[in-house]
Parts: sequence; C-alpha cells; structure tokens
Amino acid sequence: MIRKIVSVVGGKDAASTATYDSTNPARTHEVVARVGLADAAVFADACRTAKGAQREWAKVPAPVRGRVVASIGRLVEANAEELARQVTEEIGKPYAEALGEVREIVDTCDFFLGEGRRLYGQTVPSEMPDKNLFTFRNPIGVAAVITAGNFPVAVPSWYLVPALLCGNAVVWKPAEYAAASAHALYRLFAAAGLPDGVLNIVFADGAQTFAGLEAALGEGTVQKVGFTGSSEVGRKIGELTGRHLQSACLELGGKNPMVIMPDADLDLAVEGALFSGFGTAGQRCTSLGTIIVHESVHEEFTERFARAVQNAKIGDPAQDVLAGPLLDQKFADRFEEYLTWIQPHHQVISGSTGKITKDAPHHEFTGEGGLYYHPVVVDGVRRDDRVFLEETFGPLVGITTFSTLDEAIDLANLPGYGLSSSIYTTDPSAAFRFREGISAGMVSVNNSTSGAEAHLPFGGNGKSGNGSRQSGMWVLDQFTRWQAMNWDHSGKLQKAQMDVADITPDLEFRI
Ligand code: UN1
Repeated sequence: MIRKIVSVVGGKDAASTATYDSTNPARTHEVVARVGLADAAVFADACRTAKGAQREWAKVPAPVRGRVVASIGRLVEANAEELARQVTEEIGKPYAEALGEVREIVDTCDFFLGEGRRLYGQTVPSEMPDKNLFTFRNPIGVAAVITAGNFPVAVPSWYLVPALLCGNAVVWKPAEYAAASAHALYRLFAAAGLPDGVLNIVFADGAQTFAGLEAALGEGTVQKVGFTGSSEVGRKIGELTGRHLQSACLELGGKNPMVIMPDADLDLAVEGALFSGFGTAGQRCTSLGTIIVHESVHEEFTERFARAVQNAKIGDPAQDVLAGPLLDQKFADRFEEYLTWIQPHHQVISGSTGKITKDAPHHEFTGEGGLYYHPVVVDGVRRDDRVFLEETFGPLVGITTFSTLDEAIDLANLPGYGLSSSIYTTDPSAAFRFREGISAGMVSVNNSTSGAEAHLPFGGNGKSGNGSRQSGMWVLDQFTRWQAMNWDHSGKLQKAQMDVADITPDLEFRI
C-alpha cells in the first residue's frame, strides 16, 4: 500500500489540489509516498494560521521553549536510525551520511536548547543620570521556510529550531521529492508538544508556493523568508521579499574551489577532493566545483586523483558506498545537461561519463533501475568555460592550474559565488593569505569544502547568498529583531544630546 501524506496546517490535514509521487532514486519504480500538493491559497492560509498562533507561542518563556527544543533533539535521537533510513530511501543518500545528517539536527537542538536560557539582551549606560537603557531580542513573527531536498531534514532544522526557539511561528515548504522525510521530521517536532499552528508544513510546487508567499507578504502574515536552493530562485525570492520590505535568509548555490599548493600533502588532498567532489554524489551546496592545483604538482595530483575516483565505490546507498544515485529525475536531467558543457579542449580523466548502465558499468555495478551516474573529472578547464563558471550540481569536478597564490585566489573568486572554499598547504602564511583573499563565507584548510559543523556561521556571498548566516548564535539575528528601550526615572524630561553633563578638559595641556 502506498503511503499518503498531505500538508498540515494548524494541526489539521489541509486540502490538496494535485498529487506528486516521491520515488526512490535507487529504484525509481518504487513510490516512497504519494504527496498531496496544496495550492497558493492553502499556503497563504497557513501563514495566517501561523500568525494567529505566534502571539501565544511568543508568551511562552524562552527557557520553556528551550525545553521543547530539548525534546525535539531527544525525539530525533531516539528515531535516528528510522529517520536516516527514510532519507536514504527517498533521496538515495548513503546511510552513513544520512545518519550524519540526522546527527546535525541533534547538534542544532543541543546548541539551541541552552539558548532558551540566554537569548541575551543588554543593559547599556545612559548619557544621563537616573535613566536606564536596555536591548531586547524580539521574535520577528512568522517565518516562511522553503528548503531543498539534498539535506531534507538537517538544513530545515537550521531554520526551524532557532526560529521556534526565538518565539516565531513557521510555515515550512519542503522539496516535493523529499516530502516523506520532511513529513517524518514534522511529526517529531509536533510530538515534542508544539501547540497547533506554531509549525505548519505545506507541500506545494514552486509556482503555487511563490504565489502563496506573495499573497502572504501582501497581507503582512510573513516577516522572514528562509530559502535554501538555486541562485536563480533565490534571486526571485530576494526581489519579492525586498518589494515587501522584508528580508530573506538565502542559502544558494556554490562553485566551491579547492586550491592545492606545491607544499600540500597530496594524499590528504586526494582524499579531501574525493569526498568534497563525489560524497553525496556531488549534491551538496558545499560540494567541490573546481580544483585549482599548482602547476608543479598538477601531473602527480591528477594521476592520483583519477585513480581514487575510478576506484570509488558507487552503488546501493543502503550499503557502504561513497555515492549513491542522484536525488531525483529532475536532477539527473539537469546533470545530463551539465555534461554537454564538456568541450573538445577538456580531458575527462575519470573514465566513462553519463548514466551507469549494463553497457557502461562502474566496475561490476550496473546501476539498474536507479539514477546512478559516473563520477566525472574534467582536466584542462579554462576560466571562460561554463564548467568553470557555473555550478554543476552533481558528480562533476573540474581541474585547472596556477603558478602564484594570487592567481589561485583570483581563479577561486572568478565564478562569483562565495559559499565554501578549501586550501591544501603546510604553509600557515599561505592559509591566511587565502582566507583573507577568498570571497567565500567558509574556508577549510587541509579539509573538504563540505562538512561544516552545526555551530559555526553557515552562509555565502555573491551568487551564494545575500550575506545572511545560519547556525550558531549568528542565526539569532535572522529570527529576532533588536528592540531598544530607555527608561527615565528622574521625574523630569531629560533631553538626549542636550541635557548632558559636560566636563571641561584642558586640551592645551602638554607633558
Ligand atoms: C547544503 O548542501 O545545503 O557543510 C548544506 C555541509 C553540510 C551542509 C550542506 N553540513 O556540507
């Protein structure tokens, strides 16, 4: 029997106007869940419902909201294996990585449960006597959160957990192709005791979501939009929110560079490049885009890297593999298009390209019934190539060379993204010069471009985002607004800047 799921608004199932089948990308004939898709009206209604529930939720003391976050963390931990199994089944993420993804939710809850007892404001001295100044963090109201499906549970938790902790209500629109995993996470949040309407989940396609969001912003029922997805859609969301004088937290694509210096430990660099480029089948926003390797070690590095990629295990994501299938047919189609960007001046050093089949197997793996693709390494990439300039979400890594560190930094910044980056070197001054020169929000030294920890600021610049940061204490600025308060208990009107005591210095004094 096929599992059916629908949107939940105010604790109740909401109406659907279309149906979407979320399938298992490792065996595309398997339907994981039949998803009822809602329309724009349901989305806008969910935002109204959230607005209605938010006021009471904000009155719950922050330490008590922190306890709810603690319960979410415990529930996720207790259901970790089952949630990870569902993620593997629905998007083909290797099970070990899926467990890591679930761990990231628990880490996020661990961090924010304590924030319920902090959420600090400040006391600030006044320029006048008998007057006190304070700052408070106020919840923003309702956050509309729209997420991708490559991290179907961890990345949503980066929005949901702090948003709820800060006293906001949320309408969450997950990716359709990861709807069952999202629904499972929603149920764990609900089981922690969130009042109805504080967290709502709406399944809808992109067009209906956009129209619903536009209506909600017009009605004033949404004060923050969180979006993780493509730079193209991020631009549209940014425009829409800007028109309504609201700000969006945008976490977009990446063309993440890895610079390999002549003094790098090449074995370590090969291992890091393999995981960065082909772990999660290259479908992280932090996945490696281009390797920028010093000309003196280019030959040795590419030889070792090509061997490592050819030997990598690709296959059933329930097994111990480096990569499983692509997330969904839509991603497979798009990846096929990226492969057409490979030009005659490029050298593919990894072997076959395209779908893994009986006629083009990866070792003995024939990929039958699944969206499995060969990992591709393209050497000889030039600065005006599309594969160099644009994100190629999926298992494709480019290689180019440099002679000076300044040139490497220039190449690393050229595509105009700015999410993650990496340098392999044993020279601390090169590491710091790279950090200073790179436009990315995140820098790894002797480590993968992917795999950020859950309590450091996560986010990008340029085409990777609008400078907003998620995670750790930094995300609090997304989900709260500062309120300044002054309290004069002098019993008279003291005018700022005017009724201020003046102490006269002798500025002519010299020793
Ligand atoms: C993403 O792909 O949207 O840093 C997020 C990482 C993960 C998160 C990736 N912790 O690679």
